[in-house]
Amino acid sequence: MARKQIAAANWKMNLTYQQAKDLLNELFANKIELSEDQYIALGVPFPYLSLAVDKVNSIDHVGIAAQNCYTQKSGAYTGETSAEMIASVGVQYVILGHSERREYFLESNQMLAEKVNIALANGLTPIFCCGEALSIREANTQNDYVGKQLQESLFHLSADELKKIVIAYEPIWAIGTGKTATAEQAQEMHAHLRKVLADQYGQEVASLIPILYGGSVKGSNAKEIFGQPDVDGGLVGGASLKADEFLQVIAGLK
Ligand code: PGA
Repeated sequence: MARKQIAAANWKMNLTYQQAKDLLNELFANKIELSEDQYIALGVPFPYLSLAVDKVNSIDHVGIAAQNCYTQKSGAYTGETSAEMIASVGVQYVILGHSERREYFLESNQMLAEKVNIALANGLTPIFCCGEALSIREANTQNDYVGKQLQESLFHLSADELKKIVIAYEPIWAIGTGKTATAEQAQEMHAHLRKVLADQYGQEVASLIPILYGGSVKGSNAKEIFGQPDVDGGLVGGASLKADEFLQVIAGLK
């Protein structure tokens, strides 16, 4: 079985209800040609999850993602959203551990391990984000740093559970900066991460895990980056807010 290739959108905290509706309508105005291994996941803000699910419900290979969930099952956690709630509206994916959540909401590797568990328990596919800051890249310690993020948040999982995870490598210095990692830098890290997975779970399991690249992906660079052997698509912020741009990103999937 070939690995899934995924174009994932991360709308972050953008768009009003009407703008979200318009973007969904533009994206799906025409049939998007997807091959057997190609998938689309749209990470939309919580208030629009149901709207987006209704829009893509009958479209094969297209699913909706929440951008976070809480560690706990239910209860007195004002303002939080549980994995069960998210799954109950028909959402398939949840983005976990985005660097903005790690930075502004102090999400730790340990907390993310709990979020991964509760997401899986509710049948959601975690899109688990990892990636290093510029200072770590400059010190050339990025491989160990990102490897540790996987180890501390994912390596308690069984092989069968790990197979349900999608990883997104997003170097923080490339997010929203217009400064993408080169295709070579992306491939190098993705190959490293696949080796880290293989060392723990074996080559066969590691070869099944989609590893997406994120950080200033856009229509004009998607094909080159996604063309790398260990890059299985992208997690796309800014460029996912414009239909024509994101459609070009999708067309860059291999
Ligand atoms: P960007 O964001 O594409 O705007 O760089 C990517 C992300 O943060 O997921």
